[in-house]
Amino acid sequence: MLVEMKHIYKSFANNHVLKDVSLRINEGEICALLGENGAGKSTLMNILGGIHQPDKGDIYLDGNKVVFDGPAHPINLGICFIHQELNLINDLPIYENIFLESEYKSGFRRVKHTYMIQETQKIFERMGVDLDPRTLVKNLDSSYKQIIEICRAVIMEASVIIMDEPTTSLTDSEIERVFAMMERLKEQNVGIIFISHKLKEVMEVCDRYTVLRDGKMVSEGQVADVTTKDLARYMVGYDVRTDKLVREREKGAEVLRAEQLTCEQKFRDISFSVYEGEVVGFTGLLGDGRSELFQTIFGADKITSGKLYLHDKEVKIRSTMDAIKHGIGYLPRNRKENAIIKDMDIVENSAIASWEKYARWGIIQHAVHKEKLSELQKTLKIRMGNYSNNITSLSGGNQQKVVLAKWLSTNPKVLVLDNPTQGVDVGAKEDIYDIILRLADEGIAVIILSSEATEILRLCNRTYVMYHGHLQGELTGEEMNEQTMMELATGGAASISVS
Ligand SMILES: Nc1ncnc2c1ncn2[C@@H]1O[C@H](COP(=O)(O)OP(=O)(O)OP(=O)(O)O)[C@@H](O)[C@H]1O
Ligand SMILES: [Mg+2]
Repeated sequence: MLVEMKHIYKSFANNHVLKDVSLRINEGEICALLGENGAGKSTLMNILGGIHQPDKGDIYLDGNKVVFDGPAHPINLGICFIHQELNLINDLPIYENIFLESEYKSGFRRVKHTYMIQETQKIFERMGVDLDPRTLVKNLDSSYKQIIEICRAVIMEASVIIMDEPTTSLTDSEIERVFAMMERLKEQNVGIIFISHKLKEVMEVCDRYTVLRDGKMVSEGQVADVTTKDLARYMVGYDVRTDKLVREREKGAEVLRAEQLTCEQKFRDISFSVYEGEVVGFTGLLGDGRSELFQTIFGADKITSGKLYLHDKEVKIRSTMDAIKHGIGYLPRNRKENAIIKDMDIVENSAIASWEKYARWGIIQHAVHKEKLSELQKTLKIRMGNYSNNITSLSGGNQQKVVLAKWLSTNPKVLVLDNPTQGVDVGAKEDIYDIILRLADEGIAVIILSSEATEILRLCNRTYVMYHGHLQGELTGEEMNEQTMMELATGGAASISVS
């Protein structure tokens, strides 16, 4: 099916988000939709997904004009949308989620569970996904949820699939799997729109690209004719640096030390140290226990055994409040589920970790928080309307920046950042890296968990690699390269062992 969007305009109040944007999605082609945070990518796709009506402009399917009367309409016509903010029902098992729309489509209520489980199993085998289809979605890591959304689109036999940042929290090897699946869909003549801030991915999987800047189309062409550097420049309007940023420094005092931390089923015998002014990476593959380890350190889960020291003194962290009091900041993976409160406004979201710190006589100091946010808004270049707007009115990348602002306002001693630049555009990523390095200069111990190898390589002085819940190795200097990291993450041995 050929999809054409012609001369689309869309505004939210005074915010003119899309200004005369046209886009064409050919059969059997993967088209990248690129642009800075807030450029209008999701809005354009929300129009194609029947969620928003355009103010002006038309949509044509195989040359016939269509007006969508709601999100179910494009689905029935074969357009499947994998949203940036995931869209699964947590209380249902995986297989029911996968068949949600198809069930709706076939119109019968008596559902054949065994059939659905078998079909889900089949697609998991094809995708190399090691999950039981009967698992409840709420028990899954966010990265698996993205994989499940993709499986759902495949089962629905969609003709056009919109993927709005489907790989944000996936690691390189999972991304390869998703790409293999996209290639297969392409062979079956499916047209795919792929939104991503990871330009390396775009080069690898896309045929064509379209770049939006401030709601206008600024560039389009064949991916084969450009480099990632070109694409980054089209997006932000200037050359984006790509060099190594890590700074050599004298080892400061030890800030955080873990001794044989264990949490049954999740990780075991984890021992590591982080020093003042150091940026330390933690890397691995999906399901390696990294995120769980730091959730535990932050008091969100219980340690079964092991000890934790801050400045050489043993600490017992029983709750997240304890962690904040001890000066630990933790930016979790998966913003929508763990980091934002959807019913609160922007200032409130930026303030929840520091309310207590600034409260006077138990009263929240709204003005202080607003001022803090306004400072950080400049540093982080957060694009927003009013401070009192709901957090969900911000684009994905700008929400991420507000979450980062929240932790910066707590003045932490240790900052644990799980995928700090998830969904952040190429230009803003560099701003966040500068902030991380500045914090390290100020003596803060920074720990970065990242699914992007290049992020770790550019920023970190040292990195620990995890594999199936234990530390597989520690890398520094020359040893810290993509290949060695990958070898360790897949269970290989390193020449440097964990000290
Ligand atoms: N429902 C809404 N109400 C008000 N404003 C909105 C709404 N949805 C989007 N916007 C605004 O439209 C603009 C474009 O947002 P959009 O989500 O399309 O950006 P994006 O290109 O997808 O960015 P990102 O890369 O961060 O996901 C932003 O300024 C955003 O605040
Ligand atoms: Mg978006």
